[in-house]
Amino acid sequence: MEFNVEIINNVKGFMDEEEGQHLFEIALAAIRTGYPCLEIGSYCGKSSIYLGTAVKENKGVLFSIDHHRGSEEQQPGEDYFDPELYDHRYSHIDTLPLFRQVLEKAGLEDTVIPIVGKSDVVARMWATPLSLVFIDGGHAFETAYTDYNCWVGHIIPGGYLLIHDIFKNPEEGGQAPFNVYQIARSSGLFKELPMVKTLGVLQRLQCGEIPEGLNQGKFIS
Ligand SMILES: C[S@@+](CC[C@H](N)C(=O)[O-])C[C@H]1O[C@@H](n2cnc3c(N)ncnc32)[C@H](O)[C@@H]1O
Repeated sequence: MEFNVEIINNVKGFMDEEEGQHLFEIALAAIRTGYPCLEIGSYCGKSSIYLGTAVKENKGVLFSIDHHRGSEEQQPGEDYFDPELYDHRYSHIDTLPLFRQVLEKAGLEDTVIPIVGKSDVVARMWATPLSLVFIDGGHAFETAYTDYNCWVGHIIPGGYLLIHDIFKNPEEGGQAPFNVYQIARSSGLFKELPMVKTLGVLQRLQCGEIPEGLNQGKFIS
């Protein structure tokens, strides 16, 4: 099964095509483990289509968390504000109606489960092991780190942690996702896989697997 490029091209969002293709491929590998995938930051559904299409092939489930009120940079007056997503009746951003329409158009309503809430609140009672966690929520350090801290413990051995918007050069973009990526790398719990543009990909080590460089103190600062 291939994802519907026409639908994807018409969905508002921040996922580059090559990164999206990679999300699709990693999700295909992840879902074969029999455990669900989870993303933080649904927005209007662009990344959900890439991940969800792969998950659907194996009759799996993608949980997609968002409070749907937009991140700091998507608020009125900020760089990524989109007036079409502003609900004047209640004076706030609301991306949930569009997200639901996109899931319906993409035939993913029985695959992608929207969870409307803050990521750390959802995490409070979460107990299901996950084969993939994709972090693309708020880009302030506190938010990105909280997402990492809340969800990393649920990733199964061999499962994947993906982080979006990794800019090694501060002139190209905000540093919070990159800083969180560095924290994950130096935890000694992950194998680093090739990045695709700004998409960082880490794979949770299997039980008993020793990361390269561990005994040379690489992970100890
Ligand atoms: C960069 S956008 C996600 C883009 C999306 N993945 C795509 O492919 O287009 C970030 C989203 O994260 C959501 N968000 C920010 N902080 C959050 C939090 N603490 N919990 C849940 N959602 C959050 C915002 O509402 C926003 O829709």
